[in-house]
Amino acid sequence: MAEVTELNRSHFNNEASNYDSKFQKTIQQLTEAILERLDFIGVDWVADEEDGSEQGDGSTHAREVRLLDYACGTGLMSRALAPYTTQCVGVDISEGMVGVYNATAQNQGLSEDEMHAVVGDVTVPEDPSPAALSAPRFFNFDVAVLGLGFHHFADPPLAAKRLVERLRPGGVLLILDFVTHEPIVKRDGHDGHGHGHGHGHGHSHGHGGDKDEGKDKAFHNAAHTVTHHGFSESQMKGIFEAAGAGRGFAFQEMGSGVVFTHGSTKDGSKRRVFLARGEKA
Ligand SMILES: C[S@@+](CC[C@H](N)C(=O)[O-])C[C@H]1O[C@@H](n2cnc3c(N)ncnc32)[C@H](O)[C@@H]1O
Repeated sequence: MAEVTELNRSHFNNEASNYDSKFQKTIQQLTEAILERLDFIGVDWVADEEDGSEQGDGSTHAREVRLLDYACGTGLMSRALAPYTTQCVGVDISEGMVGVYNATAQNQGLSEDEMHAVVGDVTVPEDPSPAALSAPRFFNFDVAVLGLGFHHFADPPLAAKRLVERLRPGGVLLILDFVTHEPIVKRDGHDGHGHGHGHGHGHSHGHGGDKDEGKDKAFHNAAHTVTHHGFSESQMKGIFEAAGAGRGFAFQEMGSGVVFTHGSTKDGSKRRVFLARGEKA
């Protein structure tokens, strides 16, 4: 496993049980911003009138809309879009995050067929088709989403390509991430780098405890899970095109009001977030 992937796994395993409560406000803001952009995302979502009406074969939908939530974490993207889909399949490198994703789905009364996550990694260069993700359930998606995971990957363009491989023709790749930003300057004046790949960014994972020392340590750990200080529209366009999802590419900022707490300030900072979408030809 690449060093940055292992750092992510262990960091998010530690974060998993507190993630949803710690970032409740951010999750709510992002969920609302996503739901305002269902038309922009451009998937042929399941409409309200299709939902719940029993079909001849005993199913409750006339057609399927299947969503792959990669780097799903505790399930922000799945939960936002579940009402407009028939199946959400989560994949994440962290067992802890996957555990919370599945426990939440179960608590909501959803079956494994409706919403379930597994541990997996499609970003390993030498393993284009990981055994854990080889079943038909992990292919032919109508939409593949990636929420705030892209800047954590060693090779984001490779990740995009691997996700497009799992879309049906015409399926939509949707990426939510940060617009290019400066590294956050820590209290001691450093930008949180330190080990080459780590960028003092720790957007949403910074607070480790009440003491400054604990916060700095957590901030450092979080910073080392990050590989990119966000992405520009032209970078994303190039990545979508190279991945085979350049058709109908569109990029939209979701506003700068999304609050992310981190170790360098008491109250968190605001970060510009984008949604980028494109279709597999
Ligand atoms: C900031 S969290 C975002 C989680 C969720 N999508 C959300 O929007 O709340 C980033 C997630 O990426 C996952 N991750 C990092 N590297 C990964 C990889 N190579 N493959 C799969 N998941 C990865 C982490 O475990 C973590 O759950």
